[in-house]
Amino acid sequence: MTRRTTTVAIVGAGPAGLVLAHVLHRAGVAVTVHERLSRAAVESAARAGVLEHRVVEYLRVFGLADRLTAEGERHGRCEISCLGERVLVDYGALSGGVRHWVYPQQLLLRDLIAAYQQAGGSIAFDRPVLGVALDADGRPVLDTADGPLHAEYAIGCDGAHSIVAAAFPDGADGPGRRYPYDWLTVLARIPRPVEQIRYAVHADGFAGMMPRTADVGRFYLEVPAGEDQEAWDERRIRAELHRRLELDGGDPAPGALLETGMLRMRGKVADRMRAGRLLLAGDAAHTVTPSGAKGLNSAVADAADLAGTLLAELSGGDGGDGDGLDGYQRRRLDAAWQTQEFSEQLLDLLHLPAGLPPAERGFALRLRLERIRRIAAPGPEGAAFALAYAGAGELPLPAMWPSAQGGAVATGATGR
Ligand code: FAD
Ligand code: PHB
Repeated sequence: MTRRTTTVAIVGAGPAGLVLAHVLHRAGVAVTVHERLSRAAVESAARAGVLEHRVVEYLRVFGLADRLTAEGERHGRCEISCLGERVLVDYGALSGGVRHWVYPQQLLLRDLIAAYQQAGGSIAFDRPVLGVALDADGRPVLDTADGPLHAEYAIGCDGAHSIVAAAFPDGADGPGRRYPYDWLTVLARIPRPVEQIRYAVHADGFAGMMPRTADVGRFYLEVPAGEDQEAWDERRIRAELHRRLELDGGDPAPGALLETGMLRMRGKVADRMRAGRLLLAGDAAHTVTPSGAKGLNSAVADAADLAGTLLAELSGGDGGDGDGLDGYQRRRLDAAWQTQEFSEQLLDLLHLPAGLPPAERGFALRLRLERIRRIAAPGPEGAAFALAYAGAGELPLPAMWPSAQGGAVATGATGR
């Protein structure tokens, strides 16, 4: 049997894996992508939907945002209600014009898969990687259904239970937190689009209403940690959403419930994202609660940094700041902790402390209203929140990439 080889073996065709594969492939690097699920399953799983400004600007450079910007919506305002007051946070204005894009994750994945294939790349769907070992030279060997695959680098873009992380000789596990509540998630048909992200800070628990498409919205309800989904029938879900969100005639109330689930609220950051020629990106290295809509965005940001760093490494450079792939690890672990901190601050704002006696809830809610008003007001706190929330700034482009969209990229970083 012939020996199967590649330069970069990517495990997982989620946002991190597909963006990384695309950029490397367009730069002339030999890449394989293995995905355990079918293409249909990847393209239909409804998850995130809110994309940061810098993520979309990055995707644009590679021609990956055409459909997203044609069909998605820009959002620069959210509303936080508390004690009967609805506070509008015009984060687009507070940040000086930085806004989100709303476009469902499964549609983005569909676009990324199509673009990758159009560029000549191929993805092995229904092909889980069963294990990763290192050969005598420290090079990864992937165990696949088609036999061993020898790679220069193996990248774990394989989500929260990463098989690549499990192959790190010293482990990758880092600190984590299990929050004292979960979020019941609902995808529902709506009569008209959700105009802006809505958060309700409520004595009985947080509720949220998030935009997705013209006729589908995402709703969240705080429930006790470990809550059994069976305890929430459709009638109870509807009643609680109406009560906590104080839905009135002007709001797109949930129609048919398309999907309900329990999101177990956890945060976790790996101790390392690199062990020699094994690397991690996205949820494989860090998972964050959905509170700040950062999971998908961080995954793409990891991929962007790793793509540029690997290209520099493969062409004999150092990744830009003198420490190559260790620099990738350092930058992205720092970023992961910043993201955790942002998301935790938002969680603290949206939830009352666990075990708070009912008599003290009014006090805690009133304090939260103060903070909400501060975030909404022009000033340093509002600006800092707005910039972090909408994802201001830029993701790094590979040093060799001309900034003009679709421009020719210098090839020959490594042989195919
Ligand atoms: P994933 O998207 O998890 O992709 C990993 C891929 O690897 C999967 O396709 C998996 O099948 C594959 N895989 C795993 N193991 C193997 C293996 N052994 N071999 C081959 N393939 C493998 N984030 C936000 O930013 N905003 C939101 O609003 C938001 N809402 C969310 C709502 C829900 C209900 C959920 C579940 C998540 C949400 N997230 C949100 C999080 C976001 O979806 C993830 O952070 C994001 O998908 C991470 O991307 P990734 O590429 O790192 O991993
Ligand atoms: C979502 O779209 O699911 C979402 C948006 C903003 C948040 C949390 C979740 O803060």
